[in-house]
Amino acid sequence: MIFFDERRNTITLSTAATTYQMKVDSTGVLLHTYYGPRLRGGDLSNRIVHEDRGFSPNPYEVGKDRTYSLDTLPQEYSSCGVGDFRVPSVEATCGKGSRTVDLRYVGHTVREGKYALEGLPAFYNEGVTAQTLSVELRDSCTGLEVELLYGVLEEYDLITRAVRVRNGGESPMELERVSSVCLDFPAGEHDLITLGGAYAREREPVRMPLTQGVHTVGSVRGTSSHQQNPFVVLCDHETTEDAGRCWGVALVYSGSFQANTEYTQFHETRLTLGINPFHFRWKLQPGESFTTPEAAMVFSAQGLGHMSRQFHRAIRLNLCRGPWKDQRRPILINNWEATLFDFDAEKICSIAKAASQVGVEMMVMDDGWFGKRNDDFAGLGDWNVNQTKLPGGLGPLAHRIEEMGMKFGLWVEPEMVNEDSDLYQAHPDWAFQVPGRPMTRGRSQLVLDLTRAEVRQYIMDNLRATLNSAPISYIKWDMNRSLTDVWSAALPAQRQGEVYHRYVLGVYEILEMLHQEFPQVLIEGCSGGGGRFDCGMLYYTPQIWCSDNTDAIERLRIQYGTSFCYPCSTVGAHVSAVPNGQTGRSVSMHTRGVVAAAGTFGYELDLNEITSEEMEEVRTQIQHFRSCWDLVLRGDYYRLSNPFRQEAFNAWMHVSPDKSRALVGVVMGVGHANPIRPLLRLKGLDPNADYKVNGEVYGGDQLMYGGLALPILQEYQALQFDLERV
Ligand code: GLA
Repeated sequence: MIFFDERRNTITLSTAATTYQMKVDSTGVLLHTYYGPRLRGGDLSNRIVHEDRGFSPNPYEVGKDRTYSLDTLPQEYSSCGVGDFRVPSVEATCGKGSRTVDLRYVGHTVREGKYALEGLPAFYNEGVTAQTLSVELRDSCTGLEVELLYGVLEEYDLITRAVRVRNGGESPMELERVSSVCLDFPAGEHDLITLGGAYAREREPVRMPLTQGVHTVGSVRGTSSHQQNPFVVLCDHETTEDAGRCWGVALVYSGSFQANTEYTQFHETRLTLGINPFHFRWKLQPGESFTTPEAAMVFSAQGLGHMSRQFHRAIRLNLCRGPWKDQRRPILINNWEATLFDFDAEKICSIAKAASQVGVEMMVMDDGWFGKRNDDFAGLGDWNVNQTKLPGGLGPLAHRIEEMGMKFGLWVEPEMVNEDSDLYQAHPDWAFQVPGRPMTRGRSQLVLDLTRAEVRQYIMDNLRATLNSAPISYIKWDMNRSLTDVWSAALPAQRQGEVYHRYVLGVYEILEMLHQEFPQVLIEGCSGGGGRFDCGMLYYTPQIWCSDNTDAIERLRIQYGTSFCYPCSTVGAHVSAVPNGQTGRSVSMHTRGVVAAAGTFGYELDLNEITSEEMEEVRTQIQHFRSCWDLVLRGDYYRLSNPFRQEAFNAWMHVSPDKSRALVGVVMGVGHANPIRPLLRLKGLDPNADYKVNGEVYGGDQLMYGGLALPILQEYQALQFDLERV
């Protein structure tokens, strides 16, 4: 609900459990007054203390009042260069080269439903109550206009934000920074949680107390990146998994981003999140406007777990799209780790045959099926079938797979080109490179300039032709390098600062075409595993390959970190061979299955090469996943341990929304002699109901508050419990 109190000039946004408030003050500055647990009403500006502070300047119109300063006021969208010395929300060069921005309230409107953003991914309000608030701010000196958009999705406690900047002046302007969100906390100490990491070690939560200064995380790689994720949390020092206040903010964007958290001289906190200002310069002619990506905020007073579950539901049901978003995905087998580039149709069929016998439902042919793609030095860009490997093309192979009772899926990497390809020979200028400078290769490939319409057209034509050439039910959309040498031959010098963002818009345009024209095709996003795992991609691809690291023990950490924002239904997770190709570690088929079953579930090995006992285990895993997929994909997810601490075991659980069923996964930690007896306390059950676990009946209260004594098992052995209300 959005409520404007005319007398007090406050605008209050309420969700089921949270309140967010802003206030237009006497000078027209839009103050931010509150974000936290739901309140009955009131004007929260009583929290703002006005003091005469040395070196905090005062706007002209307040005259002799030295207690009014933008330097200390919490603001909805901060100005720049006119007295607020904190991280600005917006930076722009206007008129005669001035770089100051002073935004004042002009008006606002409220409407039913949620706004959408042209060409950009955004949450939508299908099936839920939503409202939109639009607040108009203006800099009267330059004519710069800022529209702050807010979407309120009440049942998820989710508030989205986006910003439209318009040149309402008479001369050209240049935007240098436009945050999607500015969130000011007038008081209090906070911890910051970010998701750091690296290739094959994605989304490792890092928690730190804020100290005075600015803490910046982000990506300048042109993608959201393995190294930092566009998701941050602020919380109280005391906040835990199950108690305490926390504010999570996710950016719905797949390109370079920046999150700044500033803790100030007066112990205020400001968070800004948006497109990374690195190499960003956007020209606005008079009348033109620019729209930022969306940011989504959830406040929880019940700890980090509740915050994650709110994001999970909202992302699954109101960000992901298409018929697959809430359905069980086909249990797939992918040949990549089994064969790398060394395969032909017979090999693919032999992997599929073995898999079909134990119930696998889809065969995905990974990299290596096209052009001269026999290693990663050649072929990208030439999307014609390699006839030596696959005589007759994709059609005959896909039909053979379908005759086995399976669906057929395919890997593509449309954004890239190898120099050793027909495409590059014909159009070298289609790849990003700076004239006169030797190019920078990444995995021996170059990035196509998706800001160019003819390049997008080429990709769309090839994707259409491929998808129409055979019964293809799934594609894995990969992206295997960071952007460098970002310069477009198609744009004038003064527009080169737009290329990074225009590239992302190009990716979205192609993905939108697929969504419109091939709605039944399930798309799994990928970028060297989870290098582009973000809310932007999830609007187009309801699942993303979580990491190239398929070691079950390492996956415990990666899946744990991923779960801070992203639901299990989006997490591509497979059982792979041992010893694991990344770590050399061997764990049992059972353990690998339990860990992969916390995601979309599939296999990544040649089942012809495992023992008959393991094959039976695979058959059982598949049957079990079929019986409980709805818990994993649609249930509420609870983290029961932190795999970054050396605990006796790692555990998590999925609970059905009506709390009648649950699935618990446990993997023992590092082995010790004479070990401590592990006791597992469950979460999310109905304390007044009884549940059957392994043939025994326990109270929900008993399981949650007393706990379940686990057997002492060896290092990395796994357990899986099904709970059913009796
Ligand atoms: C990336 C992906 C892998 C695989 C290879 C193929 O690294 O993450 O799963 O598809 O590319 O080249």
